Amino acid sequence: MGEHKFSEKKIASIEDLELTPTVLSKLIEAGFKTLESIAAANSAELASIAGIPLPTAQRIVIKARDLLGLKFKTALELRIERAKIGRITTGSRSLDALLGGGIETKSITELFGEYGTGKTNICHQLAVNVQLPEERGGLSGKALYIDTEGTFRWERIEAMAKGVGLDPETAMRNIIWARAINSDHQISLVDEATNELLPNENIKLLIIDSVISHFRAEYTGRETLAVRQQKLNKHLHDLARIAEAFDIAVVVTNQVMARPDLYYGDPTQAVGGHVLAHAPGVRVQLRKGRGNKRIARVVDAPHLPEGEAVFVITEEGIRDAEE
Ligand SMILES: Nc1ncnc2c1ncn2[C@@H]1O[C@H](COP(=O)(O)OP(=O)(O)OP(=O)(O)O)[C@@H](O)[C@H]1O
Ligand SMILES: [Mg+2]
Repeated sequence: MGEHKFSEKKIASIEDLELTPTVLSKLIEAGFKTLESIAAANSAELASIAGIPLPTAQRIVIKARDLLGLKFKTALELRIERAKIGRITTGSRSLDALLGGGIETKSITELFGEYGTGKTNICHQLAVNVQLPEERGGLSGKALYIDTEGTFRWERIEAMAKGVGLDPETAMRNIIWARAINSDHQISLVDEATNELLPNENIKLLIIDSVISHFRAEYTGRETLAVRQQKLNKHLHDLARIAEAFDIAVVVTNQVMARPDLYYGDPTQAVGGHVLAHAPGVRVQLRKGRGNKRIARVVDAPHLPEGEAVFVITEEGIRDAEE
């Protein structure tokens, strides 16, 4: 794998508006702390709330929208943008077809389901498959693996690499792993990746397995659910922006309990409950079939056909179920 440098890429922030310190502090005092809040504002309101001249407010709003890519586009431009999206094979043609050709870059894919449904196995498989060349369903890139439950196994990577004909040692070298010990650590690992690893390494896949376990463990009790949801939403929003800005696939997992009635009041534990409710992306629900068979279903995806895919977990990884 070549050591490409991508240092010119970064995530746009409020600093990119190149404001004078006075204007910047007025905006922040008025509550406009993010590019999004400025981009969504009406220029006249921004001018009056922040106490800045109208032409300045107009210029700032336009620039914020440009930086976020929020402008009118033709349908053809949209088609060209879609064509640039990369896809990573899951190892199962049937699952790939369900996903419209594989796991996509520029967005988040959430894998949710009960224990043992194959979430972690799919993550391992994607971390291997992303390294394949494009003609074999990869993106010739590396993977970043944030492990919150300590379930990453290099032995599985070794077996799966052999399964697709990659040199196991090279495959292991191309997976950068970190254990997140709590939710704040998880968030800071993503920040660190955004500032250091993603701009400098040819990473095409970021995995967080599982995205929610620490949040669930730390914020129990009904009164803290709102706080948890707010933190989690921001985390997911940051991940969505990273996916877009670095043109990488972000895959997160979410274990959903078998008895959601025991977790009354927790929206991410409802039947079919998923954490991506307010973030863009694809949500894949997994459930167990007979033996090593697993069934996947995509939920709330207007651009994908409805239906299910059956796959199996084998020693060599994720494969199509034999007919
Ligand atoms: N080496 C292997 N060969 C074949 N199947 C395996 C192998 N290792 C694990 N499995 C299968 O994978 C299953 C576990 O799947 P996985 O760990 O991906 O589930 P998960 O959805 O991540 O669960 P959890 O919610 O507990 O994290 C096991 O039940 C087993 O059937
Ligand atoms: Mg798991």
